[in-house]
Amino acid sequence: MNNLAKVKLIPVFKPLIEREEIAAAVESLELGWLGMGSYVKQFEDHVAAVCKLNEASDRHVVAVSTGHAAIHLSLLMMGVGPGDEVITPSLNNAADFQAIRACGANPVFVDIKEDTLCIDSTKVEDLITEKTKCIIAMDYDIFICDHDALAEIANRHKIPVLHDAAHSFGSSYKDRPVGNQHSFTIFSFDAVKTVTCIDGGAIVIKGVENVPRLHAKRLIGMTQPATQMYKNSRAWTYDIEELGFRYHMANLHAAIGISQIKKIDDIRTSRQKTCQRYYDELSNLDWIDAPRTNFATVNPFLYYIRVLNGKRTELRKYMKTKGVDTGIHWQAGHSFTYLNDCRSGPLGVTDKITEEIVSLPLHSMMNSDDTARILAAIKSFQK
Ligand SMILES: Cc1ncc(COP(=O)(O)O)c(C=O)c1O
Repeated sequence: MNNLAKVKLIPVFKPLIEREEIAAAVESLELGWLGMGSYVKQFEDHVAAVCKLNEASDRHVVAVSTGHAAIHLSLLMMGVGPGDEVITPSLNNAADFQAIRACGANPVFVDIKEDTLCIDSTKVEDLITEKTKCIIAMDYDIFICDHDALAEIANRHKIPVLHDAAHSFGSSYKDRPVGNQHSFTIFSFDAVKTVTCIDGGAIVIKGVENVPRLHAKRLIGMTQPATQMYKNSRAWTYDIEELGFRYHMANLHAAIGISQIKKIDDIRTSRQKTCQRYYDELSNLDWIDAPRTNFATVNPFLYYIRVLNGKRTELRKYMKTKGVDTGIHWQAGHSFTYLNDCRSGPLGVTDKITEEIVSLPLHSMMNSDDTARILAAIKSFQK
C-alpha cells in the first residue's frame, strides 16, 4: 500500500451539510410544493439580512437557479445584446464569459492587480468604446475590488457595473456589506460556495420598479406575481411580454440555503481563522507569495498561494502524495479556444499569475489537523 492509499485525501472543497440542512430539505419536500414557493421568499429575506438591505438602500434580492443565471439575467436587464462588449477581468469564472456570449455580446479582457488579483481599475478606461455596455467587478477569493474607483469610472462613462460577488457573500467593503456597492450584484450558492443551496444564485438589484421584470425573466417570461408563488400557489393566467428563462429557484434549494445562512457567522469565523493561519505560517517562505488581507472583513471563499520558483506542477504533485488536493482558479479567459478572438488590453499580470497560483483546501469548520497536514506538506517540499 503506498502512502496515498493510507491517508484520506484532503479535498479543496468540502461541504458543510449537517443535521439542520438535511432536516430543512426533508421539511421542504414534505410541504408538497416543490417549485418556487415560500422557502424562496424566506431565502431572499435571509440574503437581504446578510447584505443589510433596507428601504433606504432600495436594493432587492431575486433568487435564481445559479450564479450563471444571475449574471445572464443581470446583463439582459442592463440591455446587453448582440455586438455589445462587456469588460471583464480575464481571470474570471467561465460562467461570466458564457453569460456575456449568451447575450450575443463579447467579453473584453482587462488585466488584474498583482496584489489582489482583482480587476485593475486603472486599465479599464483604455478599453471603453461606444460598444461597452457593462464592466464586471469580480471579488477574488479573499480580496474585494476597488469598488469606489470602478463606480467613479462607470458613472463618468454612464456604464453600469455588475458586481460579481460569487466569492464574497457575507464580506464587507469599507464597512458596508457586499451587495450595496452597485446597481447589480450577483451571488452564487453552488455546491462549493461558503453558503450553498447545492445550486443557487441571487441578484441584488437597485430600484424596486425593476423587480417585476426580473421576476418574469426568471420564470420563462411569465408575468405571474411572485407574491402568489411565495404562498405556494400559482396563477393560471398571465402574460408573456418578453424573453425569459427557466432560472427560478426551487423550495428545496432555498430551504438548504436558509439553514446555511443561519450558520454564516461560524462559517465566516472558521474560514478567517484558517486563512490567517495559512498566511502566518507561509509568509516567511521565500519561494511562495502568501496573500494577506484584513481577514476580519471577509468571508473567504478560497486561499491561494503563488509559487514563485516555477515549480507549481511539482508542488501540486508532491502535495497529492502527502494526501492534499489543490486547485487552480482559474485559467485565463483569453487562453480558451472559444474566446481567443476577444479584444483585450495588456494582460501581463494575468499571464504571469495564472502560471503561479495554487488554491489550497479551505473548508468551513476546517479540522485543524488537516490544516497542519497541508502546511507540513508545503513546508517539506524540496524546492
Ligand atoms: C466568480 C464567479 N462567478 C460566477 C460563478 C458562477 O456561479 P454558479 O456556479 O452558481 O453558476 C462562479 C462559480 O464558481 C464564480 O466563481
